[in-house]
Amino acid sequence: MPGGNTRSSLWAAPYPLSITGGAGCRITDADGHSYVDFLGEFTAGIFGHTCAALEQALTAAHRGGFGLSSHTPYETELAGELAARFPSIELLRFANSGTEANVMALAAARLVTGRDRIVVFAGGYHGGVLTFGQGNAPVNLPLDFAILPYNDPQAAAREFAASGDSIAAVLVEPMQGAGGCTVGTPAFLQALRELCDGSGALLIFDEVQTARMAPGGAQELLGITPDMTTLGKIFGGGLAFGAFGGRKAAMERFDPAHADPIPHAGTFNNNRLTMAAGLEAVRHHLTPAALAALYARGEAFRAALNDLFADHGGAFHVTGMGSVMNIHGTGPDAAIRRDRLRLLQFRMMERGFYFAARGLIALSFPLGEAETGGFLDALDAVLAAGRARPET
Ligand SMILES: Cc1ncc(COP(=O)(O)O)c(C=O)c1O
Repeated sequence: MPGGNTRSSLWAAPYPLSITGGAGCRITDADGHSYVDFLGEFTAGIFGHTCAALEQALTAAHRGGFGLSSHTPYETELAGELAARFPSIELLRFANSGTEANVMALAAARLVTGRDRIVVFAGGYHGGVLTFGQGNAPVNLPLDFAILPYNDPQAAAREFAASGDSIAAVLVEPMQGAGGCTVGTPAFLQALRELCDGSGALLIFDEVQTARMAPGGAQELLGITPDMTTLGKIFGGGLAFGAFGGRKAAMERFDPAHADPIPHAGTFNNNRLTMAAGLEAVRHHLTPAALAALYARGEAFRAALNDLFADHGGAFHVTGMGSVMNIHGTGPDAAIRRDRLRLLQFRMMERGFYFAARGLIALSFPLGEAETGGFLDALDAVLAAGRARPET
């Protein structure tokens, strides 16, 4: 593999961690060091690294036969569970990743509206070929993107005034995850809803990360119903997963018996193992009570982190929603902010706590008070030592 890497986001200088195994909320590296995992597979790892019930569901599906080259009952049941959770989803289809779900949602929007332009937002991330962290990434799909500032309803209104008739869809994360956990304001997201209503463009909420915020995702908390929703990560119960769905009017074209059907292929779209794990996850783990408790734990943890950072001089702060958050270096100089964050990450790893080099933290079900308390104590010590020796 070039650079020994097959997933660019995992690479970090001078070289990334190589993790040989995990159990619950702990991981162990190739040198035998153990860490409490606060990254949780970039939000997909909500179940921790081992889960007896998921193991049983997978084993049962495996015993019953996989790769059956046909429709199977699991996919119908999982589709029913997801449609029941998200009011925006009347019909849905499965894919193999969040990226694929977004690619197909955009294809559907373009074909259904007969328009080409796609509104996205600076800092947005919808998959490897839909990355807008630094403008339009060179590997992105060659679509007609309008890249607008996030949380700026006026800029969106100007774009719709100028070219509303050619806009097929607005693709937006209710919270920009990879963009540093920047939370969308209700006013901005509501303005997008109204602009789409006025122009006939489809509003697509990418809830690949934010679906964990409530049983019906961030859209439930916001009280805003998009035309389409894309899902991924947690609903595969630890396996590769994606789904896109929406209003019947937009999705019914995928019915193969439709007069003018939109094709959507994929050998593993309905992989029986994934469908079985997803069903177990939705029915027994991603319950309303479990999601509400995790959300509350995340809100309390983020507040405690911000208090601690403020007590130590405010060189960092944390943004986010519920159990997903991002630490940022504070101050006007981008290079100093980045270096400080990197140093903080190394110092926390030395003390046995792991989060992303870019500052992302995603809590998982097995992370309890003992672990979050341990993280805060370690951080307190790291920040105190950093202030005593600011040159390090
Ligand atoms: C908001 C969002 N959309 C889409 C994706 C892409 O999902 P996948 O990595 O499964 O392709 C991600 C992945 O991090 C994401 O955070």
